[in-house]
Amino acid sequence: MSRKPIIAANWKMNVTPSEAATYLDTFLANYTEAQATDIVIGASFVTLPKAAELIGPNPAVSVAAQNMSHEASGAFTGETSAAMLNDIGTDYVILGHSERRSLYGEDDAVINKKVHATLAAGMKPILCIGESLEEREGGQLENVLRTQLSGSLADISAEQMADIVIAYEPVWAIGTGVTATPEQAQDTQKFVRSVLEELFGGDVAAATRIQYGGSVKPGNAVELLGCPDIDGFLVGGAALDPESFAQIVAAGTAG
Ligand code: PGA
Repeated sequence: MSRKPIIAANWKMNVTPSEAATYLDTFLANYTEAQATDIVIGASFVTLPKAAELIGPNPAVSVAAQNMSHEASGAFTGETSAAMLNDIGTDYVILGHSERRSLYGEDDAVINKKVHATLAAGMKPILCIGESLEEREGGQLENVLRTQLSGSLADISAEQMADIVIAYEPVWAIGTGVTATPEQAQDTQKFVRSVLEELFGGDVAAATRIQYGGSVKPGNAVELLGCPDIDGFLVGGAALDPESFAQIVAAGTAG
């Protein structure tokens, strides 16, 4: 089954609304429009409305939030709801990023609630999973990924999986400049797909897009995207430069 590549920028806590204008001017002028690739810009809550407005109706480029409350509304100071994100035209919500898990204590149970709330609002989760170096070296890789997937996707139906993207991001490769080798990434992504098959069946496993994330850059994007189970990227550092992100997107065209 052929899966449409999805390449997402995760700006993290970078890029102000004014900076987004400069960035998107350059990016939209540089990316190759003809490709059959979904492009996603993951902006902060404050920058998101501006990014959505600047991109406008664009069949190829969407915007993502980087987090969301699982609560619908009410007395939750500092939180942002699905309805708010939906209202400004958010398409995707990045959930369970390793920084949310490690710095803000998000566990699979809360991430699962967020996945449900995102889908209920008509948006698409980009669900992040990944192991630490200690877990990989300690032989825990498969356990960790299986636990994250089954916990974060609890009570999700096979039909709902059509709207979910998985991002496999080994924690040791995030922001470190150390990229998983294509072989490590491919082997692990193949394993992730096999867990999706256990959970949802072969058709869902074959159709689900699984991104790789962790020090993706223009120089390694083509090779990584050539791996059969890598269907796109979630890009942090290299996506802060619009020209370098456009080059990574161009790898989607080539691949
Ligand atoms: P990186 O970040 O590309 O800077 O490694 C990826 C991510 O955290 O999504």
